[in-house]
Amino acid sequence: MKKIIINFPNKPTPIYIDKDATQQLAHLIKKHQVGQDACVITTANILALHGKKIKTALKKVCSSYIFITIPDSEKSKNADLALKLIKQISIFNTRKKIFLISFGGGVVGDLTGFVAAIYKRGVPYIQVPTTLLAQVDSSIGGKTAVDTSFGKNLVGAFYQPSFIVVDTNLLKTLPSSEIRIGLAEVIKYACIKDTRLFSFLEKNYRKIIAKNSEMLELIVMRCAAIKAAVVERDELDKNKIRIILNFGHTMGHAFESASHFKISHGQAISIGMAYACRLSVKLKLLDQRTCNRIIALIQEIGLPIKSKNYKEQNILKTLLHDKKFSGKTNRFVLLEKIGKTKIVENIPDTVIREVLKKINEAQINEFLG
Ligand SMILES: NC(=O)c1ccc[n+]([C@@H]2O[C@H](COP(=O)([O-])OP(=O)(O)OC[C@H]3O[C@@H](n4cnc5c(N)ncnc54)[C@H](O)[C@@H]3O)[C@@H](O)[C@H]2O)c1
Ligand SMILES: [Zn+2]
Repeated sequence: MKKIIINFPNKPTPIYIDKDATQQLAHLIKKHQVGQDACVITTANILALHGKKIKTALKKVCSSYIFITIPDSEKSKNADLALKLIKQISIFNTRKKIFLISFGGGVVGDLTGFVAAIYKRGVPYIQVPTTLLAQVDSSIGGKTAVDTSFGKNLVGAFYQPSFIVVDTNLLKTLPSSEIRIGLAEVIKYACIKDTRLFSFLEKNYRKIIAKNSEMLELIVMRCAAIKAAVVERDELDKNKIRIILNFGHTMGHAFESASHFKISHGQAISIGMAYACRLSVKLKLLDQRTCNRIIALIQEIGLPIKSKNYKEQNILKTLLHDKKFSGKTNRFVLLEKIGKTKIVENIPDTVIREVLKKINEAQINEFLG
């Protein structure tokens, strides 16, 4: 089994990656002394597809365990459901050495992490991500959150899991649409840090979407290594290092919220990355050819670069609520070339609007031309 350590100053967090990594779960729970009584948070379909693997492990090492399922939707990331889960966990948790297991995609992961952070001011938890997006991104780094009507991920905490188990075989049941969505974050990593990964994606995206297991393992390893290297230097997002992971997310989150979560996170950040590339060209940071190359890859993978279903006003309003701007009107992660980012703040509203308008008016072949 491969292992990547996120070297946080207080406590290192291991990521275990393998084709059948969940087979090692019992051993890892024991090794890391996470607890005796497991509360697994998941969705009904993931439980039906893969629950047996977790049950087998828990039977071996736990005194007791329960599975709690949540509705399969971004809307599950809300404070009411978090409190409801806490009630269920409290009923189960009578004089126990409890720990939580997040078994699902980014939605389950963000919510479980948040509950683990606030229940009794913090109980141990493990991330077992089951989507490509969660394996390459959301399970790593300890950002936990729920959404509110004022914005995405507006209430949350930094709270690290005891460890992360990435079993790439779990991706076998993932619909190819979800592989594409996960690839949005992979494109992000390639754009901000890794030219070779970008070329690899250009060459192999068809095989990846067809779930070639060697390739999936390779990109999961590479992205996990990039994310680990970034977050370990900026665990709490305070040193302007972690911020580069927000490439495509400033506008992406605005689209995601303005669509009332009708578009997925991966689709929203694809639109956001296309936007950031156009804005980079507009500000003369990036050349048009590279911008076109990135937009072409996003489209070839089958991800959107624009959305008609939004009101400009809503996008701008949501941008204002972005928690990351504190004191600034806005902040974008832009590109100078593939692999090199530049943080730009306080971009005038007129410029933001102009690029929005241009993207909306543009024909797809205009980007490729
Ligand atoms: N915390 C972070 O750092 C971070 C980073 C990126 C994204 N996120 C969050 O992640 C969320 C999106 O996560 P997501 O894309 O994983 O979506 P998701 O959790 O909604 O999962 C997508 C779909 O895949 C299904 N699914 C999951 N695993 C499966 C499997 N193995 N086989 C078949 N179907 C499976 C789910 O049931 C769901 O329908 C967003 O809320 C986003 O904000 C968080
Ligand atoms: Zn993201």
